[in-house]
Amino acid sequence: MSKTKTSYFCQNCGAESPKWIGKCPVCEQWNTYVEEIVSPRQNTGAGIQKSSSTPILISEVDYSETSRIDTLNKEFNRVLGGGLVQGSVVLIGGEPGIGKSTLALQIALNIPKRTLYISGEESLQQIKLRAERITNTTNNCYVVSEVLLESIENIIVKQKPDIVIIDSIQTLQTERIESSPGTVSQVRECTAALMKKAKESSIPFILIGHINKEGSIAGPKVLEHMVDTVLQFEGDRNHVYRILRATKNRFGSTSELGIFEMQGSGLREVNNPSEMLMSNSEEELSGVSISASIEGIRPFLIEVQALVSSAAYGTPQRTATGFDLRRLSMLLAVLEKRAGFRLSQKDVFLNIAGGLKVSDPAIDLAVICSILSSDQDISISKEVCFAGEVGLSGEIRPVSRVEQRITEAEKLGLKQIYISKYNKKGIDFSRFPIKINFVAKVEEVFRGIFG
Ligand code: TYD
Ligand code: MG
Repeated sequence: MSKTKTSYFCQNCGAESPKWIGKCPVCEQWNTYVEEIVSPRQNTGAGIQKSSSTPILISEVDYSETSRIDTLNKEFNRVLGGGLVQGSVVLIGGEPGIGKSTLALQIALNIPKRTLYISGEESLQQIKLRAERITNTTNNCYVVSEVLLESIENIIVKQKPDIVIIDSIQTLQTERIESSPGTVSQVRECTAALMKKAKESSIPFILIGHINKEGSIAGPKVLEHMVDTVLQFEGDRNHVYRILRATKNRFGSTSELGIFEMQGSGLREVNNPSEMLMSNSEEELSGVSISASIEGIRPFLIEVQALVSSAAYGTPQRTATGFDLRRLSMLLAVLEKRAGFRLSQKDVFLNIAGGLKVSDPAIDLAVICSILSSDQDISISKEVCFAGEVGLSGEIRPVSRVEQRITEAEKLGLKQIYISKYNKKGIDFSRFPIKINFVAKVEEVFRGIFG
């Protein structure tokens, strides 16, 4: 019998070395080398089907097998790009306690298919207890507590499930490798084996992954490369809202968001996010404005809150939650330089309601309006919203899909919207009953709202 050959791999860039080295000569990271078994079978064809080894015309490729399974969970379907693709491997990552197991179990219980829920973290009693909290259960969900990959493969062959859920990939272990569960080589080997299984059997796999302290999925980066879809489940644990977003998706867009609310009876789908993102207070307060934003293809009305006060210490503080701090500094500089507001000696705190992280540049206009509203202590009417990117010279730049934003604002009963003058082109605005203010410079916006 030949001796098992091992080699050392950098966890960061995947470089290989026959012996352990402290610093990777390729990516210059320290302490990233881990011993792994190199066997000739390993990684041969994981993710690739044997049948596709003869080239055929792309027009003749049969794609009916990639039909999607409706998970009956609208938000989850949306993030996946319309449902679970047969034979795909979906990895869900997130902080401990965010609700990954709850989400996975809920899907397993609601979907009208034979599902197999494999847990390496919890006992069957614990899973049952959780299932009791989540209502409307079907009787198609099988549970098993198992960590050994070889046993899992046998169970799958015997049970013939339509969907397999594994909680979590870091607890899995294969006999082929001696290192302990959760190490790079174990995670990699188990994922490769599951990938292969998924492609051979057309069963979709949902894997739950832990994240490390930097916030990325624990284990080698190659794990994310291997699977078809990587979903991040995030949200402030103290907030009841949870956001599911795709960071990689071979079968759909990565810009879609799924929103859930954690309740006593599991996760509720939030199909109308604007209601959650706007506080319901009737009172008009200074420092609050509403942005008509778009995440993915869904329009959201988001409340932006700012607090501006005189700096208590020499250096003013700038804090932003849910918004890029550098972008905030840039907007403050624009206000100072282009509009003449003295903000350099003020503390500025910015908060996006609902614990959302916004990357849509159209929120800029609402951000500066909130800051000025707080600075001047003049409230902005709750019937007004904004959508515009702010440029370095204080110009209001056009934003994408402006009609969709206007429609959403109208649907929620708003009366006015401020958009860029440059958005005018090619759109018939007369069909919107809402009042549309076209602006080209930040000063025009302030004149409009503060008189
Ligand atoms: P869990 O799914 O165990 O998180 P993860 O697998 O990501 O570590 O669930 C986490 C939290 O959700 C837990 O603190 C309890 C709470 N929870 C509810 O509020 N309602 C529920 O119905 C369930 C099942 C859990
Ligand atoms: Mg869990």
